[in-house]
Amino acid sequence: MRSEFDVALVAERLGIAAVNNENLFDEMVSNLSNVGYSIHTNALPNTLGKSLWVQSHDSACSSLKAAGIGRQSDLKIDQSVRSDKIAWIDSSTSIGCEWVAWAAELQRKLNSSLYLGLFSFESHYALYHPGGFYKTHVDAFKGSRNRILSLVIYLNHSWLAADAGELVLFTEGELKVPVKVKPEFGTVVAFLSEEIPHEVLVTNRDRYSIAGWFCANREIP
Ligand code: OGA
Ligand code: MN
Repeated sequence: MRSEFDVALVAERLGIAAVNNENLFDEMVSNLSNVGYSIHTNALPNTLGKSLWVQSHDSACSSLKAAGIGRQSDLKIDQSVRSDKIAWIDSSTSIGCEWVAWAAELQRKLNSSLYLGLFSFESHYALYHPGGFYKTHVDAFKGSRNRILSLVIYLNHSWLAADAGELVLFTEGELKVPVKVKPEFGTVVAFLSEEIPHEVLVTNRDRYSIAGWFCANREIP
């Protein structure tokens, strides 16, 4: 059986310091190059977080649809693998613009520091109702997809241990134990899409998040 560590403990043991908004992107660059993932609590800029909370709980919800697996022609809706509902985010609203601009700033930083060649960004709101989950998966398969870096942020206030629904990252780091992340408001997680299998544990409460992917300009075979 796998043992699980509290993320704060893992962060402490890996020497990942608590961050403020000013050096968030620097910390992300450093964590990603060292261990392939980066987790920051209370890191989303406050005004942006509030706007995204409003949009996720309001207009976006009315257009949420059952999420699929794969893309375009091979898109399947298989609720035994994932049971969230999603709404893609674009720049047609001012809140969407704010979010995309924040992601674009991160993209610039990652490209200039890590030479990842990130070219575009796609993201959606996701809502998991009680009982919802997403079984272990990777967001991209080596060589066949163009998703390079996954970014997830959470929009749930006062998440309790009993609410469950944690993100679990199966990292290959020094500790070789899964890292559990509570989907608490303001937490920002990034990880290399091809490297880190992960899952969303069954949630006991409505669970709101945004999942996004920075992509390279590579052909999808
Ligand atoms: C995904 C995903 C993680 C989360 O949408 O691909 O892994 O914590 N989401 O919501
Ligand atoms: Mn995923």
